[in-house]
Amino acid sequence: MNQWEARWQEGRIGFHLPAVNTYLLRYSAELLQQDTERVFVPLCGKTLDLNWLAARTQKVVGVELVEKAVADFYQENELSYTIQQSGNLRLFCNTEIDLYQGDFFELFSEQTDTFKAIYDRGSIVAIEQSERQKYVEHLMSFLEPGGRLLLVSLEYKQEQMSGPPYSVSREEIEMLCSPFGSLQLLESCDILDERLLKKGLDGILECVFLLQKH
Ligand SMILES: C[S@@+](CC[C@H](N)C(=O)[O-])C[C@H]1O[C@@H](n2cnc3c(N)ncnc32)[C@H](O)[C@@H]1O
Repeated sequence: MNQWEARWQEGRIGFHLPAVNTYLLRYSAELLQQDTERVFVPLCGKTLDLNWLAARTQKVVGVELVEKAVADFYQENELSYTIQQSGNLRLFCNTEIDLYQGDFFELFSEQTDTFKAIYDRGSIVAIEQSERQKYVEHLMSFLEPGGRLLLVSLEYKQEQMSGPPYSVSREEIEMLCSPFGSLQLLESCDILDERLLKKGLDGILECVFLLQKH
């Protein structure tokens, strides 16, 4: 069993929020342009952000490795679905929210088509450093020219806590993303609390970026 499967089976999913993400609420106008019909959510878990985005667009498409996360999403939201095979992944289809279950790196834009908007929260920070360049390059293959990526990363001293979530510094985001378009830091927020202090952190920033692809 891989670490994500184990986390979902054992209910160690502290990353799952009980409400729609605040940054998505705050910056949806930057993410969603007038004519944005479809949004892509990589490494989506069972986030409620999927439902929120679905209420504002024609179609939300996610990809998630763990079957339990995908099944829980539809069950907890009382949404019906059908399942079909798509390449090496399984596609859970619903009229508003389609979720590919399997490895993101085995999903291709030939299967999903490209998107005007991508929302990455808790996703790049779930990827080990050695895989991050590959992750960003792969992510960008789903984004249309002129399309936008809203990305939320975390920054802390990596030696103080082993990820995931990993620390992905502003400099690293800049280095990985700016070759693909114009990158803007929208906000950074100190999110240190008792729980994170107890884990040994002496500081942690959540950073929100908007990238517009060339
Ligand atoms: C930190 S969670 C964030 C989930 C979601 N974005 C949210 O905000 O709640 C990362 C998710 O990515 C999934 N994941 C990890 N590696 C993956 C991969 N290679 N392909 C697809 N999903 C993956 C994990 O199972 C986990 O649900």
